[in-house]
Amino acid sequence: MSGIDIKNVSKAFGTTQVLDDVSLQIAPNEFIAFLGPSGCGKTTLLRMIAGLETVDAGEIHIGDRRVDDLPPGQRGVALVFQNYALYPHMSVADNMAFGLKNIGVAKDEIRRRVEDAARILELDGLLARKPGELSGGQKQRVAIGRAIVKNPDLFLFDEPLSNLDAALRMRTRLELAQLRRRLKATMILVTHDQVEAMTLADRIVVMKDRKVQQVGSPMEIYARPANVFVAGFVGSPSMNILKATIQDEGGFAVAIVAGTKIATRVPMAGLPASDHWRLGLRPECVKVSNDGHPATVEFVERLGERTLVYAKLSDGTPVTAEDAGNSRVAMGDAIHLRIDGARAHLFSGTGDGYHADEAA
Ligand SMILES: Nc1ncnc2c1ncn2[C@@H]1O[C@H](COP(=O)(O)OP(=O)(O)OP(=O)(O)O)[C@@H](O)[C@H]1O
Ligand SMILES: [Mg+2]
Repeated sequence: MSGIDIKNVSKAFGTTQVLDDVSLQIAPNEFIAFLGPSGCGKTTLLRMIAGLETVDAGEIHIGDRRVDDLPPGQRGVALVFQNYALYPHMSVADNMAFGLKNIGVAKDEIRRRVEDAARILELDGLLARKPGELSGGQKQRVAIGRAIVKNPDLFLFDEPLSNLDAALRMRTRLELAQLRRRLKATMILVTHDQVEAMTLADRIVVMKDRKVQQVGSPMEIYARPANVFVAGFVGSPSMNILKATIQDEGGFAVAIVAGTKIATRVPMAGLPASDHWRLGLRPECVKVSNDGHPATVEFVERLGERTLVYAKLSDGTPVTAEDAGNSRVAMGDAIHLRIDGARAHLFSGTGDGYHADEAA
């Protein structure tokens, strides 16, 4: 089992800088998700770890070996892509065995490894089938099987679930979580799906603009976003980010938004001087109520168990609020919003995040 140490890695394609001085440490047996918008460099970083892309500057270590000059075959990694690229004329068993035959692994050993992988992935009954006779989820499992038989120290998954429909995606996500428990290995999953990252990863690496924006456990990232980008990117629907001025009341910041005061539990003592504060409020902290901040309903989304209410405050500031599943709120209604400022965040002019005092 190997950890990974990425030290000050940079990468450009021509004149386009894709990664700029990225450092990251991954513990042995850790499940890490790279999360970020399209084009932020997730695949590039994964391919650099796999050895499919060169490193312009910096070092990559896997276990106790520096690998950035080693060919992919010597790095002990297995990569699973978004499109499973199975050989259509070969059986499931042969698809899984193919890579091993190529490197001269003995026949008996190949059979043993393929049968083990098939058992782990519950593909036992399907080994003689051709890919054309499998469902999308089964094909994806064969692609994962092809990685498992290599006995890698490190599994790299590049959006392995994104070709699957919603139901299958959820099932395969659970399978991946179970697989992770059965296999002792370090895993990196590239995704732009925050639910995948939140549910599978021990830690999430949020990337944007050539940089790592934040590394943390799913709940750390959700509860204490390092900056306004992470705050808006993680969580669905997105966090409300509202222009605010702040003042000190009893050591905590009170935010003034649209002329009304919202008492936060963010300590004043930790805040820098800044002219452009923004208040961050998750929609679940803004509830439709009998009293509170007046607002007008612009749009309503009924999700069954809850209702999302897109409203405007008195000064026109848009805000996403929540109501019960059986909400009677309709477009155009004048409503009131009760805001739970205790869980509010503040973001300074530079975008840095400040959060409620955990002791508060
Ligand atoms: N071989 C290449 N040559 C030139 N530019 C490239 C190459 N590969 C990637 N890029 C550029 O590098 C940037 C990062 O690409 P990358 O594929 O790593 O993004 P990503 O985060 O995986 O995005 P997605 O979520 O869309 O898969 C993009 O701007 C892309 O256009
Ligand atoms: Mg990608």
